[in-house]
Amino acid sequence: MKNLAVIGSGTMGNGIAHVFAQYGFNVSLIDLKQEFLDKALAKIQKNMDRQVAKGVISEVEKEAALGRINTFTSMPDGVKNSDLVVEAATENMEIKLDLFRQLDEAAPEGAILASNTSSISITKIAAATKRPNKVIGMHFMNPVPVMKLIEVIRGYATSDETTEIIMALSKELEKVPVEVNDYPGFVANRILMPMINEAIYSLYEGVAGVEEIDTVMKLGMAHPMGPLQLADFIGLDVCLSILRVLHEGFGNPKYAPCPLLVNMVEAGFKGAKTGEGFYAYTQGSKDLIVSSQFKK
Ligand SMILES: NC(=O)c1ccc[n+]([C@@H]2O[C@H](COP(=O)([O-])OP(=O)(O)OC[C@H]3O[C@@H](n4cnc5c(N)ncnc54)[C@H](O)[C@@H]3O)[C@@H](O)[C@H]2O)c1
Repeated sequence: MKNLAVIGSGTMGNGIAHVFAQYGFNVSLIDLKQEFLDKALAKIQKNMDRQVAKGVISEVEKEAALGRINTFTSMPDGVKNSDLVVEAATENMEIKLDLFRQLDEAAPEGAILASNTSSISITKIAAATKRPNKVIGMHFMNPVPVMKLIEVIRGYATSDETTEIIMALSKELEKVPVEVNDYPGFVANRILMPMINEAIYSLYEGVAGVEEIDTVMKLGMAHPMGPLQLADFIGLDVCLSILRVLHEGFGNPKYAPCPLLVNMVEAGFKGAKTGEGFYAYTQGSKDLIVSSQFKK
C-alpha cells in the first residue's frame, strides 16, 4: 500500500495527510475548493516546521514529505490510483453516504474505503457501497500528528482481511490501533460524551462551578484537561450531536443531552471556536477565563 487519498482537508484531514506523508505514503488531498487545500497545506507545513524545531524530523524529511502531497478538487481524479481512501469530510450523514456512493464508482475495485467519522454508523456507510467488506472506520484523534490512538471500527460486513490491513497500516504510522465493533459512539465517544454530559448536569444542577468541576477531574482523576474545557475544545455542537446519536441509537434516556448544553448550542455558544462556551476565549490570552454566564 503506497498511494492513498484523504477526503476533506479540515482539522482532521490535514493531520491525516500530514502523518501519511511523513511515513512515506503518496497522498492525494481532496476538498471542495482550492483555497481550503492551500490553507491545509500551509497548516501542514507549519506543523512540520514545529516537528523540525523539536528534532522529530529533519528539514530534508519535511521537504520530502511535503513533496508527497498533491491536492485535488476533483474527487474522481484524486482517488483513481488509491489503494486506500480515508474520508474526513464534514460530519453529516447525507454528505458521507453520498461520498461513499461516488467513491465506490471512482476508486479502484480493490481499494479499502475508510471513514474518520466520530459517530456515524460504519455499517450504514458501508451499505451505500457495493464493497461493504472493504469499508472500515479509522478514527484518528485530534491533533492527529500527536495523538497515538486510532480506533479501528469494524462494520457489520467488514472483512477480517480489511481489518488486518488497517491494523498493520496504523502500526506503520507508529500509532496504536484498537479494534472495536460498530455500535453508537464506538468506544471513545460512548464513554467520553456521557462523562462530559454528566459534568454539564453537575453545573446545571448547581453541584459546583465550572472551575471546580474541571479541577476535580484534573487533580482527582489525573485528566490533562477538565471535561468542560474539553467540551469547549471539541465544540459544544459536536458534543450535542454525538449525544443525540447515542440517545437515539440506544434508545436509553441515560444519554439524553443536558438542557443546558442544548440551550448553549442554540444560543451560539459553541465553545472555543465561537470564542465562548464554559470559558471565554480571548485572543492571545493563555489564561482560562470562566464565561461571565457562569461566574458566581
Ligand atoms: N475535529 C475533531 O476533533 C475530530 C476528531 C475525530 C474525528 N473527527 C471526524 O473527522 C471528520 C472531519 O472533521 P473535521 O473536524 O476535520 O471537520 P472540518 O469541518 O474541519 O473539515 C471538513 C472538511 O471537509 C470538506 N468537505 C465537505 N464535503 C466534502 C466533499 N463532498 N468532498 C470533499 N471535501 C468535503 C470541507 O470543505 C472541510 O474542509 C468528521 O467526520 C468528524 O466527525 C473529528
